[in-house]
Amino acid sequence: MSALPMVVPEPGLPTSVTIYEVGPRDGLQNESVAVPTATKAAFVQRLLAAGLPIVEATSFVHPKWVPQLADAAELMTGLTAELGDRARELPVLVPNERGLDRAVELGMRHVAVFASATETFASKNLNRTLASQFEMFVPTVARAREQGMDVRGYVSMCFGDPWEGAVPVEQVVSVGVRLLELGVGQLSLGDTIGVATAGHVRALVAAFREAGVPTDRLALHFHDTYGQALTNVHAGLQAGVTTYDASAGGLGGCPYAKSATGNLATEDLVWFLTGLGIEHGVDLGSVVATSAWMAEQLGRPSPSAVVRALSGSDS
Ligand code: HMG
Ligand code: MG
Repeated sequence: MSALPMVVPEPGLPTSVTIYEVGPRDGLQNESVAVPTATKAAFVQRLLAAGLPIVEATSFVHPKWVPQLADAAELMTGLTAELGDRARELPVLVPNERGLDRAVELGMRHVAVFASATETFASKNLNRTLASQFEMFVPTVARAREQGMDVRGYVSMCFGDPWEGAVPVEQVVSVGVRLLELGVGQLSLGDTIGVATAGHVRALVAAFREAGVPTDRLALHFHDTYGQALTNVHAGLQAGVTTYDASAGGLGGCPYAKSATGNLATEDLVWFLTGLGIEHGVDLGSVVATSAWMAEQLGRPSPSAVVRALSGSDS
């Protein structure tokens, strides 16, 4: 069996895409087994070596809220000792000024704040209301920008919320536009529980465009709960979006949304983009080997179809 698909481009799609790897953060934040810091560092380094241009490394959140990433400072200190400035370029999540302080102390250059499009998830994930979450982001984004840092803004529950059901597109656009007004560079639209479908993706991207947000400011962040993630990427490509979040091996979820399962697997995305002849710069075999290795560390197989297909003895 071939380790790469035959390349057959589809007219009208972007010619290159940026894969924003979230495995070490979104993937590992949800693991029930404690992953040693050295294993996390090796994971990040292997992903970089596989050609992933952006690897989100960890979160400077409250350690009681996400104990899996309580070693954020230790991880980044270790990576900086090994990689120098390259480690400082790795994005990290910071919900608030306290998180930013911790990231600044270590010389990090790229941070991401994360907002909710719904009232319930703002409360569960951030202990804030939909409106008051911005009280955390205003000073955090302002201070980060003053220091010349690059700030990404996530919006969660963009396509549906497990407690509130359907989420109006206008509500998502309003939260996203507010983050952009605060100084966020790129908006990552999160399908936290994986309920998005292709038409909904196109409608949301169009709604942002109609609100004056250029499509190149948008990234899409799909979880694969209902197996729709790649179809949704296709819809995103047709709408002109060129940055996609993915997690090696399909690890992932959110500890504050139990119905959130793994992210779109990086390998599934790479296979899909490769078949379309879209440039991504990632070596598929290296990511597969990394995910197979990580699956051994975690003691369970990768949910990614491509990892399973390519890890077999005949591949
Ligand atoms: P809070 O309890 O309201 O915090 O939590 P607070 O501001 O009231 O502060 C209480 C204490 O916590 C204080 O200490 C602070 O210093 C400390 P005290 O004075 O009592 O000793 N504290 C911190 N310590 C370390 N680091 C910090 C920090 N902040 C406060 N950053 C908070 C509010 C936002 C901190 C909490 O709710 C939290 O950490 N939430 C994070 C939840 C999380 O990480 N969720 C997963 C990431 S989001 C996601 O996965 C979705 C995404 O993938 C996209 C998608 O799929 O949709 C991005
Ligand atoms: Mg996520």
